[in-house]
Amino acid sequence: MSDEPQNTAALSASKGSRLCIEIITLFPEFFTSFLQTSLLGKAIANGLVAVRCTNPRDFAPGRHRQVDDSPYGGGPGMVLRPEPLAAAIEAAEQKRGRTHRILLSPSGRLFNQSCAARWAEAGRLMLICGRYEGVDERIAQLFADEVVSIGDYVLSGGEAAALVIIEATTRLISGVLGRAESIVEESFSYGRLEFPQWTRPPVFRDLAVPDILVSGNHALVARWRRREALRRTLTRRPDLIERHPLTEEERSMLAEIELTDPQRGGRG
Ligand code: ADE
Repeated sequence: MSDEPQNTAALSASKGSRLCIEIITLFPEFFTSFLQTSLLGKAIANGLVAVRCTNPRDFAPGRHRQVDDSPYGGGPGMVLRPEPLAAAIEAAEQKRGRTHRILLSPSGRLFNQSCAARWAEAGRLMLICGRYEGVDERIAQLFADEVVSIGDYVLSGGEAAALVIIEATTRLISGVLGRAESIVEESFSYGRLEFPQWTRPPVFRDLAVPDILVSGNHALVARWRRREALRRTLTRRPDLIERHPLTEEERSMLAEIELTDPQRGGRG
């Protein structure tokens, strides 16, 4: 830390990391425990991922280091001024190199698994967190490669969105997940929700694990799981079916799904 300027909190070294994430945030402390925890904490400790925070407040002028101001045209709330944000972005890049810059905003394009896959390969990523009622539009115009929202709801700032993006993105970097975890059959990687899972005990509060899962027939188990993934997707996320049309096998599963009782976990 000693060779770091005050405006930059170094959370790990970046040389040799598969992904270096620069966060532009007024609240670097928001990230501290998250970046030390679990698989991501290990990936950072092992140098696979590096994360740096730069605080625009450190670049704001005056004794009060004011970073916001009232909106032109009137209206409630405050808007982040462009100068401190621009200075923070430029300082981080001057020090460590150009990034793929993402401005977090509820008015952005929706984040999804394919964004995570793309950004896991970006090498250097910047997450620019807005706060208050918004960010001066010139930041999007001058700096953002993409403007991204994590969902159709309004957060008080981009920090929680940055956490979501960091977690979804870094777990796709090879070596970040343990051998026990697999990304191959996860929800969204093939346009379907994940199949349901059970573990011990075999009966819990009168609910038994579906017989097929203890049958030892791997081919039948695999087909059953694909069918239950389809059942779930039809019920909970029919929009995914529209975007990823039914396969031939899935069309043949539809009749079985209608015959079996979803409340019981589909024992057909
Ligand atoms: N900032 C506030 N709300 C947000 C959202 N839904 N996604 C990304 N950034 C945000």
